[in-house]
Amino acid sequence: MVDALGVAVVGFGWMGRVHSRAYARVPHHYPHLPLRPQLVTVIDEVPGRAEEAAAQFGFASAGRDWREVAADPRVGAVSVTAPNFLHREIGVAMAEAGKHLWIEKPVGLTADDARAVADAVTKAGVQGTVGFNYRGAPAVEAARELIASGEIGSVTHARIRLFSDYAAHPDGALTWRYERGRGGSGVLGDLASHGVDLARFLVGDLASLVADTAVFVPERTRPTGATAGHALASGGETGPVENEDYVGCLLRFASGARGVLEACRVSVGEQNTYGFAVHGTKGAVFWDFRRMNELAVSRGTTYQDQPVSTVYVGPEHGEFGAFQPGAANAMGYDDLKVIEAYRFLRSIAEGTPCGPTLADAVHSAAALDAMTRSVEGGGWVDVRTS
Ligand SMILES: NC(=O)c1ccc[n+]([C@@H]2O[C@H](COP(=O)([O-])OP(=O)(O)OC[C@H]3O[C@@H](n4cnc5c(N)ncnc54)[C@H](O)[C@@H]3O)[C@@H](O)[C@H]2O)c1
Repeated sequence: MVDALGVAVVGFGWMGRVHSRAYARVPHHYPHLPLRPQLVTVIDEVPGRAEEAAAQFGFASAGRDWREVAADPRVGAVSVTAPNFLHREIGVAMAEAGKHLWIEKPVGLTADDARAVADAVTKAGVQGTVGFNYRGAPAVEAARELIASGEIGSVTHARIRLFSDYAAHPDGALTWRYERGRGGSGVLGDLASHGVDLARFLVGDLASLVADTAVFVPERTRPTGATAGHALASGGETGPVENEDYVGCLLRFASGARGVLEACRVSVGEQNTYGFAVHGTKGAVFWDFRRMNELAVSRGTTYQDQPVSTVYVGPEHGEFGAFQPGAANAMGYDDLKVIEAYRFLRSIAEGTPCGPTLADAVHSAAALDAMTRSVEGGGWVDVRTS
């Protein structure tokens, strides 16, 4: 038997669109899931944006105040895809209202915010998942299995890199992303949050770190109207960029492995250069999001001059088989969100977590807080999750 589950989406920018599409596509890829999402309502504060969304995506209703969702008995699950400063207030309110929660990273501005949402989810007994989509890529799951199986020996060191040019244009508008009060810690929350999650997913918990940050575009033009995504603005009033464009970080894992994490949002010539290299005593595994369905693997017993081969992921890896019939038929970014939606709905159907949880969000946010403390104090700091 298939039950209907009413869903709401709060915040209809890029992520709101992607979540909405993902809900609609879940039954196409996962016909046996006993829960079928129904797009009940969409909320955005910009006049007309939610109505347009409802008309285009088929939501039954639209509104401008997210509080209506908490009180709406038609809604069983909520996507929180609004800017970071709203995550805590909306996330806690939805959980307290008994709604299951799919919330975007970084889950608030600080680890304290992420913890508040995680606690509310636990207390309410609802399911919660967070938008760490990269760990859901079949190639990343394959890399995790390869590492866990010992095929590359014991992990010695890892390099995680997230470079983007989305803020490189000097006319990039001063949106919520560049304000501490609404965006939080800049590229830390935006990109390094994914990097920390990948590091933990592949290698394990972080013990300590030392970080350095920088702002390379210190001033931007304020937008004159509503924005979504990465809008341009020029010629008007300018204001300061209040959070980091760049972070470089040395990591020590609890296992004793070492790592380097670097993230930058103003890297000219880099478009979604997100990826990792994990090295072990017998081999290594490499992944680049731009070639999302490939893994480069070096394994064997030769240690020196050991070849690196390309593995095209296929139906035997992660969720690939729900999307494509054979290896090297490419999956794309939106497919990662379909996987995330599927796991969220499955967690609700089965009453047990599936996919990244709010506890993972707390771990990631704790590492970001540690980076900030390290920059302030100028040295190594422990990563504290409580
Ligand atoms: N997982 C990923 O790969 C990924 C990628 C991009 C963004 N994100 C996260 O998703 C969230 C949204 O990012 P985005 O790029 O979609 O931003 P965006 O600026 O494109 O969209 C945000 C939307 O929220 C709306 N909004 C603002 N205040 C609101 C309020 N009070 N009530 C209702 N709606 C409100 C805005 O009008 C806008 O439409 C952020 O937390 C971001 O970190 C995740």
